[in-house]
This record gives sequence, C-alpha cells and structure tokens, in this order.
Amino acid sequence: MAKLIAGNWKMNGLRADGIALAQRIADWTRAERPSAALALFPPATLLAPLAELLAETEVALGGQDCHSAAKGAHTGDISAIMLADLGCRYVIVGHSERRQNHGETDAQVAAKAKAAHLAGLIAVVCVGESEAERDKGGALAVVTRQLTGSLPPASEAANTVVAYEPVWAIGTGRTAAPADVAEMHAAIRRHLVERAGAGDQVRILYGGSVKPDNAGELLAVENVDGALVGGASLDAQSFIAIAKAAPGPQSTPGET
Ligand code: PGA
Repeated sequence: MAKLIAGNWKMNGLRADGIALAQRIADWTRAERPSAALALFPPATLLAPLAELLAETEVALGGQDCHSAAKGAHTGDISAIMLADLGCRYVIVGHSERRQNHGETDAQVAAKAKAAHLAGLIAVVCVGESEAERDKGGALAVVTRQLTGSLPPASEAANTVVAYEPVWAIGTGRTAAPADVAEMHAAIRRHLVERAGAGDQVRILYGGSVKPDNAGELLAVENVDGALVGGASLDAQSFIAIAKAAPGPQSTPGET
C-alpha cells in the first residue's frame, strides 16, 4: 500500500496562510505525482475553502475531531456527517491533545470513530503512551488497552487508520527510536490481525516530531504505513520533503 502522509495543522493557520500552504502542496502533487497518499487536516475554519481548493487534486481532506452524534444540541461541536458533507475523507479521533485537554476517554473515542464510519469517513484513531508509562515499561500495555477501547467493532482497513503517537514525542523534537517504533507497530499489527479480518491491511501511521531529516528512517520501519505530521506540516517545503522520503508501495492489494 502507498504510505499515507497526513498533515495535522492543529490550531494553526489563518485564511491566507492556510490556503497558500494547501495550494503549494496541491501544485506539487500535480507536478510530481508522488507515490505517497497525502491528506491535510486543517482547523475547522479552513475546511470549506480547502475542500474547494483540493477538490480536483490527489490531496485528501480531513477534520481534526468530530462529535459522536450526527446532529443536535452540542454547541461548538462538528459531526462526522458534516465533515463528510463538506468533502472530507478522514477525521482524526482520540488525538492525545484531545485526550489530555478535553478528558476524552477510550469509550468516547470509539463512539466518535463509529460516527465517522457511519458517515462514510475513515477514522484516524490515535493511541500512544506517556513518558511515565514508557519509563515504567508499560507502553505496550497502554497502547493495547487504548486500541481495545478506542476501536469500534466494525473497524477495518476501509474505514480505519491507526496512528501511534507517543505523547512524549509530540511537538518535542524527540522521536521514538526505530527499534521501539518497530516493536510497537508490530504489536499494533498483531492486535489488528487478531481482532478483525484483513487487519494486515489497516494503515498504521507513526506520529511525533516527524521531520524531513528523520522521515526516511521512520517510514522504512516495518509496519509503518505513513506518518501523522504536526509541526513540520505547517511548512510546504518540509511537508513535501517528508512525502518525498516515503518509500514507494511494496504491494497494492485493494489500495489506491
Ligand atoms: P508533531 O505533532 O509532528 O508536531 O510532533 C504530531 C501530532 O501531534 O500529530
């Protein structure tokens, strides 16, 4: 499958900058036809203009979060069906910043992922241990528990991407060692294969301080099917350099 390089802009980007950034990435994909699949996750305020800008391109669009309900009295929230209606293909759920800042639980993340599936979106379900949990030797157990609690039963390759993001590596400039990434991604793969048919086809992304100078090494690790990029996705040149570092597809069963 082609590697997926996803840019999570978080709460960054005013209209002019965000549109210019997306335009540069779209122009590059038109000119170079990269082997990696690309997706952008701008703040909600930029979804509508980017949906228009990216409509005829190979760059997919996604929301950074959704509510678990389809509609209703939830001031400030956005439903998965609204994101789909705008032209989104993906939605991130359970990012560690939402788990920390908004107290989101595994059960809430699973409900959001289920809503995404019902809306026809691909849920990018984020998991990852804290530094203290890793130091105590509990990283694998934490991530396995998060997967068990955060993936709804109907999760499969067509509707789910898992993103492994060690919390201590997000926005810190520190990345997990390739051997640790390999160990964790292999454990996630085993979990996916055991719980669902075709779990071997679910993309597993690595996230946490992915930059142009470490992307090649991280993307070459077995079971790393792409990257969820935060800070480095805010600069077109860095994001493009990361996409260029992605090795081409090994095999293409059922994948575009
Ligand atoms: P970072 O963020 O690349 O800035 O570490 C990654 C993420 O939170 O998705």
